[in-house]
Amino acid sequence: MALVSLAQPADTYEYGGQNLTPLEREGRNTWYFWTGGGEKFWRYTAGITKGVTDLLQYVDSRRRPERFRTMGVLNDPDCTAATQPDEYGLWMDVCKPVNIPGIPSESSGVVGLRKFKNPKFDKFSWDVKKYLADPASVEPPYLIGMTCGFCHIGFNPLYPPVDPEKPHWYNFSSAIGNQYFKEGTLFSLKLTPQDFRWHVATRQPAGTSDTSRFATDHIFNPNAINSIVYLADRPWHTETMADGSKREVHHILKDGADSIGTAGASLRVYVNIGMCSDYWTTLHDPIGGVKMRQKPFQVALARKDCADWRATEARMEGAEAFLKTIKPARLQDTPDGASLLSKDAALLRRGALAFAESCARCHSSKQPPAETEKAAEWYRNAVLQPDFLDGNFLSNDRRYSVAEIGTNIGRALASNAIQGHVWEEFSSKTYKEQPPAAELKGLYNPIRPNKPIDFKPPGGGRGYYRVPTLAGVWATAPYFHNNALGLFNADPAISGRIAAFNDAMEKLLWPEKRLAAQSVWTTTEDSAIPLESGYKLKVKKGTPVHLFANINAPDLQLLRNDNFFTRIIGFFVGRGALNNVLLRKNLSPDFVVDRGHTYGRTLSDEDKRALIEYIRTF
Ligand code: HEC
Ligand code: HEC
Repeated sequence: MALVSLAQPADTYEYGGQNLTPLEREGRNTWYFWTGGGEKFWRYTAGITKGVTDLLQYVDSRRRPERFRTMGVLNDPDCTAATQPDEYGLWMDVCKPVNIPGIPSESSGVVGLRKFKNPKFDKFSWDVKKYLADPASVEPPYLIGMTCGFCHIGFNPLYPPVDPEKPHWYNFSSAIGNQYFKEGTLFSLKLTPQDFRWHVATRQPAGTSDTSRFATDHIFNPNAINSIVYLADRPWHTETMADGSKREVHHILKDGADSIGTAGASLRVYVNIGMCSDYWTTLHDPIGGVKMRQKPFQVALARKDCADWRATEARMEGAEAFLKTIKPARLQDTPDGASLLSKDAALLRRGALAFAESCARCHSSKQPPAETEKAAEWYRNAVLQPDFLDGNFLSNDRRYSVAEIGTNIGRALASNAIQGHVWEEFSSKTYKEQPPAAELKGLYNPIRPNKPIDFKPPGGGRGYYRVPTLAGVWATAPYFHNNALGLFNADPAISGRIAAFNDAMEKLLWPEKRLAAQSVWTTTEDSAIPLESGYKLKVKKGTPVHLFANINAPDLQLLRNDNFFTRIIGFFVGRGALNNVLLRKNLSPDFVVDRGHTYGRTLSDEDKRALIEYIRTF
């Protein structure tokens, strides 16, 4: 039998880019390699956190053999592990020089982290031991900056790596979102389980980023790095801007807060990963969130005073053009696609009709005319058309209140885009004028389960989730904004992705199979929160992480437990006194992370099975 030999794809970052236009190529390079000057911010962060968050120590080459397994990051295929420290005593991956037109930086060895020479480095003052003990004490030889690709490039479901620690460029997908990234590792270098922050870091689900860690909104609400697909087919919404003008926008982000246009949203993210940090860090207290209240970021000022803003803004047309080229990975396109999809036409038809009945009003960009009274019939007919999935963003991109959707409220309560807060200028007036969500009744109380919590979500824009796309969703379980619904198996092989998909779908459509109260994120050992005063707030083993992690940081500073006075108070008013304060002051007292939405739960088991087969084809 003759073996069919498949041409080995070229192993370069340009892989897959042969058909891009020059503008799209420039955009691809921006996405993969452009840091917008954020390396300055990461240097600053290393100093103020005393190395708890230090990209230079994070990229230490001795981690290379297990970077994927332990940190979930991707090794740059053009590099190898160092066999010895470099001339400065640092362990840096050895990388083949790759010339990226117009972008001056080198690979750090990790995809999306770029290495620069530090202009402030002075080799006579340099002392590696001193640096590792306290990064603020001496200027290092390199600065490390972050690109969009750091979080967004992930393994390509169509070409999984043979060994995830030794990938090739053709194993990557530009914007699927790195579902395996353990962001907590970046924010807990040097921490031990005695430190509460270690528990926060380890409880954060893989594939998520707490995008409001800084500027902090005082809520621990990590959210999934979702895939960016079919941008060109994403629905538009007419929204009112701050000056009263109208603009056609997408609802970018889980809560649809970025709502002034795609370029504005992207520039904001550059700031969030460090661009224009000289200005940005004057607007908030970057890590602690204690010393000052947030002030709004002013675009006009940044454009005038920050050269990186202008240089990055000039690249946004290309970046958007590039993102528009990205389509989802479909199971039918995998090598074994045909055998993994059902060929039973009647079953798929039944699944499509279940989708029409329970899902399509939200998860389709093809929608009936607004005035029709026959929407149900329209959906039934639409899903049976052979081209229903073509160019379908599989979301109407609308925002729905958390009271309706029912998923954990944490991410919807993010407050950075409301009036007076740091991203005020990046959200529309329409966003800010959304009515508050209805009161949530009977939330699970992990301290006293027989006393459920009622909570009135604040408004000002908060309290909503936009509908995510379901395109390529077979490959991106676990689900929901926090990646908390379904099994995480860290397995990028097609079989691993399907196992995760099957588990998440079961839990989605049969809500009784969810972890519910078992999904509360708790600490695994006694620990303490180091406060600014030096006082250590004690946290007992088994405490829900959100009990302490969702408290306004200045208020947290005032709390005391486990000293003479609090013991006396505890004796008189009961041991739960502090817990009650923590519950009352909790900015998001919703502890069950895998609850909601439950659409489709009333379908028959046969319909649910058919629906799952149908969703595999997305
Ligand atoms: C530290 C990780 C991280 C980095 C780096 C990062 N992102 Fe993201 N990105 C996320 C997460 C998490 C989300 C989902 C956030 C949400 O929807 O609330 C996201 C979502 C997005 C979305 C789309 C959301 C949607 O509505 O579909 C865009 C566009 C985006 N990012 C652009 C960028 C750009 C541009 C950069 C580089 C400047 C970048 N990202 C860098 C984590 C990251
Ligand atoms: C009323 C609108 C609405 C309906 C109807 C609806 N969804 Fe959703 N869906 C959402 C929203 C909003 C989210 C995001 C919730 C979150 O992340 O907390 C979501 C999230 C999801 C996700 C997770 C996607 C991801 O990438 O994490 C899946 C899967 C999903 N829905 C499938 C379905 C299916 C299947 C149906 C029909 C049985 C359905 N949805 C019906 C609004 C809806």
